Amino acid sequence: MKVLVIGGGGREHALVWKIAQSPRVKKIYCAPGNAGIAQWAECLPISAEDVKGLTARAEKEKIDLTVVGPEAPLTLGIVEAFRGKGMRIFGPTQKASEIEGSKAFAKDLMKKHGIPTGDSVTFADPESAIKYVKAKRPPLVIKADGLAAGKGVIICRTLEEALSALDLIMVQKAFGPAGARVLVEEFLEGEEASFLAFTDGDSVLPLPTSQDHKAIYDDDQGPNTGGMGAYSPAPVVTEKVNRDAIEKIMIPTVRAMAKEGKKYQGVLYAGLMIREEKCQVLEFNARFGDPEAQPLLMRMKSDLVPILEATIDGALSAHKMELEDRSSVCVVMASGGYPGSYQKGKVISGLEEAAKVRDTFVFHAGTAFHGGKVVTNGGRVLGVTALGNGIGEAIRKAYQAVERISWEGAYYRRDIGQKALKRIERGC
Ligand code: AMP
Ligand code: GLY
Repeated sequence: MKVLVIGGGGREHALVWKIAQSPRVKKIYCAPGNAGIAQWAECLPISAEDVKGLTARAEKEKIDLTVVGPEAPLTLGIVEAFRGKGMRIFGPTQKASEIEGSKAFAKDLMKKHGIPTGDSVTFADPESAIKYVKAKRPPLVIKADGLAAGKGVIICRTLEEALSALDLIMVQKAFGPAGARVLVEEFLEGEEASFLAFTDGDSVLPLPTSQDHKAIYDDDQGPNTGGMGAYSPAPVVTEKVNRDAIEKIMIPTVRAMAKEGKKYQGVLYAGLMIREEKCQVLEFNARFGDPEAQPLLMRMKSDLVPILEATIDGALSAHKMELEDRSSVCVVMASGGYPGSYQKGKVISGLEEAAKVRDTFVFHAGTAFHGGKVVTNGGRVLGVTALGNGIGEAIRKAYQAVERISWEGAYYRRDIGQKALKRIERGC
């Protein structure tokens, strides 16, 4: 069969890499792809948000299965567009992807259906938001309702910070229409984890547990990024938390979406805050996490393609997932300056040397070819991912490979996976 993967980041490289292992797949296309993906798939120069262009090309190439990586095409209705032409596509519909596209919708859904999450009030006018914030005690979390490329959540430690966040989002309109409504949410303490599951709108097939590292600097300092590294499994997700996440969050959410007339089929990603083995939802995403997909897909032994198809066909209950017992760790290497401004076009060296580290794979994110060389082409550039017997070995292997790669200004966190190691050492 012919498969098209939409997107061009580390998550999409991991999807292409995993799909390429399926004996059922003859050819893979990726739009737009990157320099790493180009070794496995034919890259099409079409933006992930060009729904019309992608639909036309998929029809022309007679693609059998399309897999959507990022959220933007989902919220633009790519699933309906493909289905309208009788083509099979993996991902939730526009209506269902509102669970990520509108934080106010997700919050209302959780409140209405008793899914555990922090208290929050939604405002459409700055005056009432300011009045409410002044009556509250900080810290508070202020969130733009719509998609804001991961920048629309502001943690406010003081009233002044909260007022300037409201001003930024509602008055200066820094995120455009995504900030037409804001949520003022209670600040939740604890440790975060990512919980992902396939769902066909009825059955839920969980992926292993994982944890992202959102902040740019070690010890979770500095501004948030798309994610600077991830590992799986995440020991903060104990057996009890895992059970609660499935029974109190994932299954009720899938049921709630169906009841609201927004049947959800695809990967559902819950960002969790965990404290003393209780978990609450911070947010939902309508897709695989990036970089979580890299260590998660590396741990998946089952063929991914039948699971993707069963998700589309409503036949997921017949599927199990075979997993690698080993742990996996992904260290993201980024351009100096990210998540602020950074330069592109830096020549990357050491990729071949890094590839020699056993059980390691270098997933490309922001890379391109220039003059026959692989150069940087984005903020997050590579996701160096390793399998190991235990998280400690996976960390060592991933960093061994990272140290063989260089370019001018390359930056990475040195503490990916340390939280898991400490938890294991403490025996909790
Ligand atoms: P979100 O996009 O809603 O997951 O928010 C991005 C990040 O902001 C999360 O990964 C958390 O680190 C942080 N965050 C969001 N909501 C809260 C909250 N209610 N309390 C504490 N931190 C939060
Ligand atoms: N790693 C966070 C995300 O994919 O949203």
